[in-house]
Amino acid sequence: MFDDKKVGSKLAKKLCIEEGDCEFRNFPDEETYIRVKSNVKKKHIVLICFLDHPNKKILSLYFLAKTLKELGASKITLVIPYLPYMRQDKQFQIGEAVTSHLFAQLISSFCDSLITIDPHLHRIKNISEIYSTPTMTLHATSPISIWINNNIKNPLIIGPDEESAQWGKEIAKLTRAPFVLANKKRLADREVIIDLPTIHVKSHTPVIVDDIISSGTTMRELIKHLAKKNLKKPICIGIHPLFEEKTYKKLIKAGAKEIISCNTILHPSNHIDIINILIKGIKQC
Ligand code: R5P
Repeated sequence: MFDDKKVGSKLAKKLCIEEGDCEFRNFPDEETYIRVKSNVKKKHIVLICFLDHPNKKILSLYFLAKTLKELGASKITLVIPYLPYMRQDKQFQIGEAVTSHLFAQLISSFCDSLITIDPHLHRIKNISEIYSTPTMTLHATSPISIWINNNIKNPLIIGPDEESAQWGKEIAKLTRAPFVLANKKRLADREVIIDLPTIHVKSHTPVIVDDIISSGTTMRELIKHLAKKNLKKPICIGIHPLFEEKTYKKLIKAGAKEIISCNTILHPSNHIDIINILIKGIKQC
């Protein structure tokens, strides 16, 4: 059962499994109506959900998972390529909700296992620290490296902040490219300070790789620094293209040569396909 018909059908075909049928609609007051039309008794259900804008989708997901269990499903594996609510993983000020933990408790309460791709790990080192349901973390580094190898001559991989070192270093290794790590301090939702070390390889094409592109502030600030250093226009790669409204246009205006993303969230910039990675993961659970 899936929340995106096209991706769902593709996955089901490649996995040689039955595609579930489900009806979703809203009542006039916007409450959700769900009807499971397939026989799910004693079946292992794989639910794939694109959880960008999670507040709009989480309740339907919860209703669906609970209904599937009531109808006799033996196991529910949740496949959430972009795992939201991973950034507020600490109480910075008294009274703040630590939403990473609360969201993890909610998801763990209605599924039997969870598969995701490159969750935002900073102070939390592994999602199993907060998810009580068994988890599998997959990585997009390999398809990203293949895309870079096929499309960019002499890339220079740039990680915008400390957290990005975990995938930036791996991509640099796989593409045999030099790697530079910037230092980032976030002052507010749309305000960051970036410190970029000296770059000697001026003839290379900068490729900025980040897990999330949301407001685009991080990428824009880096693009500015690269221009000041007289480097080529960069390619911006985001694993999870959350893209607030106008982010894409603003990045092009700021001087990005191209903006490329993985299909962990559906967007026209999806040029890197992670479906085969998901399939490998699903086959193991
Ligand atoms: C957090 O540090 C992440 O790794 C990203 O750098 C961040 O979420 C990007 O957000 P924005 O596009 O709003 O700067």
